[in-house]
Amino acid sequence: MKSHFSYDLNRFNTLEEEIIRLDKQHSHFNKFETKKLTELGVNKTSRILEIGSGTGSITKTLASLTPGGKVTAIEKEIQFKKMWQTNLKDFKNAELVIGDSFEVLPMLQHVFDFAYLRFVLQHIKKPHELLKLIFEKLDKGGKLIITDIDDQLTFCYPHSEKLDNLLNDVQIAQRQLGGDRFISRKLPTILTQIGFKHISCETICFTNTQLSFQDIWRLNMGFKSSLVPSHSSNIVNLQYQLQVADEKSELFYNVGVVVTTAQK
Ligand SMILES: C[S@@+](CC[C@H](N)C(=O)[O-])C[C@H]1O[C@@H](n2cnc3c(N)ncnc32)[C@H](O)[C@@H]1O
Repeated sequence: MKSHFSYDLNRFNTLEEEIIRLDKQHSHFNKFETKKLTELGVNKTSRILEIGSGTGSITKTLASLTPGGKVTAIEKEIQFKKMWQTNLKDFKNAELVIGDSFEVLPMLQHVFDFAYLRFVLQHIKKPHELLKLIFEKLDKGGKLIITDIDDQLTFCYPHSEKLDNLLNDVQIAQRQLGGDRFISRKLPTILTQIGFKHISCETICFTNTQLSFQDIWRLNMGFKSSLVPSHSSNIVNLQYQLQVADEKSELFYNVGVVVTTAQK
């Protein structure tokens, strides 16, 4: 099968570790997401397309918002299937299609009111092509919601050159695999070129004063460390150094994401 992605479960030390990270990530975003989805008009009968559903944590939120509608989730990693099914066991209005979105989307027969991609587009080699396929599957007036990263929203004080170097190496590694850690800032241009309208971007940041340093570090480094295994001892040293500063209340650590919305 052709590879369009920089996300590969085989690169993680254990699947369990990645599942914990995804669940933590979900619990931090979910309250905000539910509010945002409702504001955008997701309702009881919405038809929703979700790309890259992972464990199904966000599928569950989407399915609970739309009991008389339907959520179609596409996920390329079969290893997530059981977990997704367990998460969605009480919902009849959600289906999972295992496969690469580039291959699955053209085969879908129906259109959608909403499409959601959370932390997926940064892994896609040809985001423009995928977004074009999604545009075709949205009904007239249908809305797209993308939550993704921009590495410039990760920084700390006191300034750490070690953190900068690490981020730089992760950016290069992900780019070599076809991903892009600066995807969010490019979306307004890409979406306009495809024909989307009413494009809006909101940045959401978390700091170590809101979340524990341990949580923020796991969110921020879990995937990155899988990309640069040769840095594992640097990452442990940096974590220790920052943790000590955090315990003395002498650290500011920020991570941020961008939520982009657009309409067909
Ligand atoms: C970082 S995970 C995010 C999972 C989930 N959206 C969440 O926020 O918890 C990225 C997910 O996108 C999936 N993915 C990446 N490229 C894909 C593609 N081309 N088609 C379908 N799924 C894909 C990965 O397998 C992975 O489950």
